[in-house]
Amino acid sequence: MNQLRNLKITVFGGTGFLGRHLIKFFCDQECIIKVPTRNPAKGYFLQPLGDVGQISLVKFDISESKNLEDLIEDSDIIINLIGILFEKKKNDFINTHTKFVKNIVDILKFKKKKFIQISALGVNNYKNSLYSKSKFDADQYIQSNLKDYLIIRPSVIFGPEDNFFNKFAKISLISPFLPLIMGGKTKFQPVYVEDVCKGIIAILKKNINNKVFEFGGPDIFSFKELMQILLKNINRKRILIYIPKRIAIIMSKFLELLPNPLLTEDQIKLLENNNIISEKVFNFKYLKINPVSLRLIITDYLKRYKKY
Ligand SMILES: NC(=O)c1ccc[n+]([C@@H]2O[C@H](COP(=O)([O-])OP(=O)(O)OC[C@H]3O[C@@H](n4cnc5c(N)ncnc54)[C@H](OP(=O)(O)O)[C@@H]3O)[C@@H](O)[C@H]2O)c1
Repeated sequence: MNQLRNLKITVFGGTGFLGRHLIKFFCDQECIIKVPTRNPAKGYFLQPLGDVGQISLVKFDISESKNLEDLIEDSDIIINLIGILFEKKKNDFINTHTKFVKNIVDILKFKKKKFIQISALGVNNYKNSLYSKSKFDADQYIQSNLKDYLIIRPSVIFGPEDNFFNKFAKISLISPFLPLIMGGKTKFQPVYVEDVCKGIIAILKKNINNKVFEFGGPDIFSFKELMQILLKNINRKRILIYIPKRIAIIMSKFLELLPNPLLTEDQIKLLENNNIISEKVFNFKYLKINPVSLRLIITDYLKRYKKY
């Protein structure tokens, strides 16, 4: 019997990259899904992933926490995928990552519901970044106040609509060089989006709770190696330019003025630490999942940037 069948799940941030894949997995498990979003029309693309009526989109903004309780009242599981990489006016890290989670936790303290928080790998290690600190504070609040929670900390996630490889592939279309901030030495353990979804489904099926999981792929690459893999796969030659931290900070001051900045000072701080899983924390091994390698997947989904 499928124990997830007919479970009611509210997915905050379900319109994003990870959200669209996770919702497909939940649809396949015959769950009933609600997706609160700032713009329901933007989320209509999700509906064909399920049967008629299986996915509903509800207008919601994190600044209106008044209707939050009503929104999650009929859910068995609440999962939060809301996240930002840079701040814009009232959409800052503290409001988006910390205060919103605190609002949910304060409601859930008194209810029998499971809360799943998608945090990020390394937030416990580099607290000088506001991105990390805001996520880490949320994780700590969950751990001290809830009796049924899961915290998932993935490394950089790759897959068809990812924000990482697509971004650098787009840059390579117009730029003769790609930047290696601080020499591109920071190490990452990229994880396939479908493996993250498989991990979440496995955790739910095994009825695991109150644990922190770190999800990373099978290989560790430096940022420089990731750029080399990317360029090889799209068959483009670009100069990899070493950018010292001091220069990167000056560049970020200008880039931060753009509506969708390519680099921020906070992101430079994130590059100061490696982004790889610690063997001491629960991970795919515990779930008996063999994550797939970046090299097997990337060729296919970056085809549109390839020079033939
Ligand atoms: N992708 C990665 O490599 C990676 C790695 C580690 C951790 N994570 C974490 O995983 C989660 C999902 O990542 P993702 O790549 O799927 O992100 P994404 O594609 O950028 O999607 C983020 C979602 O957050 C929602 N959102 C942002 N600001 C909001 C606000 N003020 N009010 C309501 N909704 C808001 C957006 O919803 P609407 O625009 O529809 O309202 C969107 O659906 C995030 O928490 C991220 O930090 C991602």
